[in-house]
Amino acid sequence: MPKVNVYTDISQEEREARKDYIDRHSPFIHCESEAKAGELFNVTVQVGAEYQHPDDMEHYISTVALYNKETKIAESTFFAGSQGGQGKKGNTRVTFGVVLDKDAKLVAHSYCTQHGLWESLPVEVKVEQAVEA
Ligand SMILES: [Fe+2]
Repeated sequence: MPKVNVYTDISQEEREARKDYIDRHSPFIHCESEAKAGELFNVTVQVGAEYQHPDDMEHYISTVALYNKETKIAESTFFAGSQGGQGKKGNTRVTFGVVLDKDAKLVAHSYCTQHGLWESLPVEVKVEQAVEA
């Protein structure tokens, strides 16, 4: 099992290089806080909030995965060049359409080809059950 780097609040970090390193590798989940059971629900995951990660042939963000509690429910693969390539910087982003059947706790992982696996803060989603007719 690879080491998992869990996001920490960069406002607590003093060194600019450390803030950049943590932020540009960390996935951030963007979604509504409530969903309806059985309906498609959009969850966007973006790698990096304030900083961008480089996109080189040997160094890029290759996967973004979404978990609900311990279960992986979605994953997207990227290749070198997805953010413009040739060392350009970017924020790898994907929107997953998922169906939740009960209250969820979402966590995202991103994988950098040189700096390993990174985990987001968890996001709770309240799921409203459909009313029986
Ligand atoms: Fe990296």
